[in-house]
Amino acid sequence: MRVVDLRSDTLTRPTAEMSRAMAEADVGDDVFGEDPTVNRLEEMAAGRMGKEAALFVTSGTMGNLVSLLAHCARGEEILLGSFAHTFYFEQGGSAAVGGIHPRTLPNQPDGTMTLSDIEGAIRPDNVHFPRTRLIVLENTHNLCGGHPLDLEYMTAVGDVARRHGLKIHVDGARFFNAAVALGVPAAKLAAEADSVSFCLSKGLGAPVGSVVCGSQDFISEARRARKVLGGGMRQAGVLAAAGIFALNEMVERLADDHANARKLAEGIAEMPGISIDPDQIHTNIVYFGVDRKDMTLADLVKRLGDNGARMLPVGPGRIRAVTHYHISSDDIDYVLGVFGKVLK
Ligand SMILES: Cc1ncc(COP(=O)(O)O)c(C=O)c1O
Repeated sequence: MRVVDLRSDTLTRPTAEMSRAMAEADVGDDVFGEDPTVNRLEEMAAGRMGKEAALFVTSGTMGNLVSLLAHCARGEEILLGSFAHTFYFEQGGSAAVGGIHPRTLPNQPDGTMTLSDIEGAIRPDNVHFPRTRLIVLENTHNLCGGHPLDLEYMTAVGDVARRHGLKIHVDGARFFNAAVALGVPAAKLAAEADSVSFCLSKGLGAPVGSVVCGSQDFISEARRARKVLGGGMRQAGVLAAAGIFALNEMVERLADDHANARKLAEGIAEMPGISIDPDQIHTNIVYFGVDRKDMTLADLVKRLGDNGARMLPVGPGRIRAVTHYHISSDDIDYVLGVFGKVLK
């Protein structure tokens, strides 16, 4: 049976050319700073984000954690959205490992926190309070429907941060999806951020890795944090080569994933008992709800999967489908056919 797997963009496997680049990578000991391929990836990534320096890390979770550890001391506070991946899905690592106090503010449906909520949450200088140090944004916002945060919002948050002497970290696991969807160069979208971490192993198709970008001083601190977390890798150029290929070849094509996600959303909006607003789909993530007397959400996920369209139940009342490199427009037609069969 043909199976189209839309559970996540982390399912992407290296292309033949990417695998070749990995096999042929020039390597050295990266903890000694001697892996030429890692060094090249870090230089490229910093350039793409308009920052001084970058650090190759194992995962998006490690990229966020080393960033928070580099920005904040124990007992300091970060402001982040109630649906932020860093808050929701990363084991509370900032508190557990760093003693950093997370303060959540409501995420709006478009993934933002309101400027007044941010400004209202900044602590005055008072012996009772933790010190507010950092604002954490997520772009695109995973749990908020893959919404990209636009330049206007990034600039406005930058203005609040500057006025209060705060730093900004962007969890940009899908930052290039945001840049492509908005038609804005990544460096411009990252201009207000003191640090950005982005994933190579999601829509960009690399098997492993994320990159954190920021100032030289920030990256030196992040490098120390990476080492204590066990993330000092040795001949990591084998992995970095995939990242270089991804940055060169896989960014612009993200627009295809966005078009396929939109096509899927428009198709399933026509199906009986499915709730979705296709106008809210801007990148590669599609969430929808089910309102049917004859089947639960779990039933629908199972029936879709049994008929060749795999998706993920996420949180109360929602199913997630994510488009990526291995999903074609023809696959979306096939998935819509499966929906038609299962829901008839
Ligand atoms: C927004 C966001 N941030 C961070 C991560 C963590 O990435 P990783 O799975 O590489 O640790 C994810 C993973 O899905 C994510 O969606």
